Amino acid sequence: MKYLGPQMLEFPQNGDERGHLVVVEGQKDIPFDIKRIFYIYGSDESVVRGQHANRRTEFVLINVAGQCKVKVRDGKGNEAVFLLNRPHTGIYLPKMVWKDMYDFSQDSVLLCLASEHYDASEYIREYDKYLKLIEEEDK
Ligand code: TYD
Repeated sequence: MKYLGPQMLEFPQNGDERGHLVVVEGQKDIPFDIKRIFYIYGSDESVVRGQHANRRTEFVLINVAGQCKVKVRDGKGNEAVFLLNRPHTGIYLPKMVWKDMYDFSQDSVLLCLASEHYDASEYIREYDKYLKLIEEEDK
């Protein structure tokens, strides 16, 4: 399973009268082994998070509560905005895309599944530097 671009994923809801249970398994429901999870909450609509690209890490983001928007850019002029507002949907983000998360609802809990352990040196946090790297990749 290889996903090329950013895309929405829908996970099965194992729902019954007791509620819902959503399962996300590495290499099955998402195209990588999960090495790290983190989650973001307590942000509100005035906050913009992310604002970086990752050289190696792929992510799946799921708003397990509340909602936020994710703007994804590829450094070549393409951008898309995804609304995460259901606990059984997520967005897949390949490496080397620029992402902004914003418009967080007060109850937003954004679960992030990552393909790599944390390594600050693989984060690109300057947009100009990101554009240069994309340009070099294309040569
Ligand atoms: P940051 O990357 O700024 O969060 P976001 O891009 O989601 O807005 O991370 C916030 C802080 O947390 C920063 O000091 C780095 C630290 N951090 C870790 O130590 N490990 C991690 O896995 C992540 C994602 C962040």
